[in-house]
Amino acid sequence: MAGTRIDGNEVARSVKARVKEAVAAIKEQGVSPCLATVLVGDDQASATYVRNKHKACEEVGILTRDHKLDASISQDEFDRVVEELNMDKSVHGILVQLPLPAHLDEFASTSRISPLKDVDGLTPHNAGLLAANKAVLVACTPSGIMEIFEHYNINLEGKNVLVINRSSLVGKPLYHLLLEKDATVITCHSKTGDLAGLCRSADVIITAVGDRARFTLTPEMIKEGAVVIDVAISRFNDKLAGDADYEGIIQKASFASPVPGGVGPMTVAMLLRNTVTAASLGSRIGRQF
Ligand code: GUN
Repeated sequence: MAGTRIDGNEVARSVKARVKEAVAAIKEQGVSPCLATVLVGDDQASATYVRNKHKACEEVGILTRDHKLDASISQDEFDRVVEELNMDKSVHGILVQLPLPAHLDEFASTSRISPLKDVDGLTPHNAGLLAANKAVLVACTPSGIMEIFEHYNINLEGKNVLVINRSSLVGKPLYHLLLEKDATVITCHSKTGDLAGLCRSADVIITAVGDRARFTLTPEMIKEGAVVIDVAISRFNDKLAGDADYEGIIQKASFASPVPGGVGPMTVAMLLRNTVTAASLGSRIGRQF
């Protein structure tokens, strides 16, 4: 029997409905949550992601600021923009769209964001809180995936969970979130040996490679009844594709997330939630939503 298709749009709708209520409540207290995005250069995919984030903010009543910076901006000039946003009391969340052009230092650039406005959970402060199991602002894609597990009652306790990604935005935060749920976590990357063997022994696979020409998760690589969460999104054969051969995988998995319509909408929904949380922190109402 085919597994359950994870409907990220449906889960995102329920998160957004709660965020909308939280926005209305915080506005009653005189705070209008506002997200500032910073986009450097003219990468079309990044521009589309940022546009979608703005649209989603509008839907729930979050204000937005749109900072588009030239690809040639210097590190000093970039840092000044972030510093101004840090100081601006009407801005509650700051999102620097990644990747940045190669001449800008991604770690240094995102580390400058005030931890109270760090809606990506990327600053050393927030990453450290996550490692200590005390996080308030957590990277959006990992927290969106945890929300999916919750929504579908997927129990992680004692499960072997394989994460194929080690980035600061996905693999590293997921490691801590999954550990908190008592999963046994293995983080894989480009140098991992026998990836196919590790996949076959995993109860849950979260894959975020994003290069179908190099890596495809096939039904032969998963065990019967596995849960497959596909985070990747890239163009393959002129279509949007994740890492997994979804149509094949869903025949063997207990749950699988499609691309598009799986994890993507959750990333945006969690960004909205983090923005309201940041507005609450900034205004000293101090509630996590
Ligand atoms: N680029 C791709 N995904 C993300 C994300 O979640 N946050 C940021 N800032 N940049 C991204």
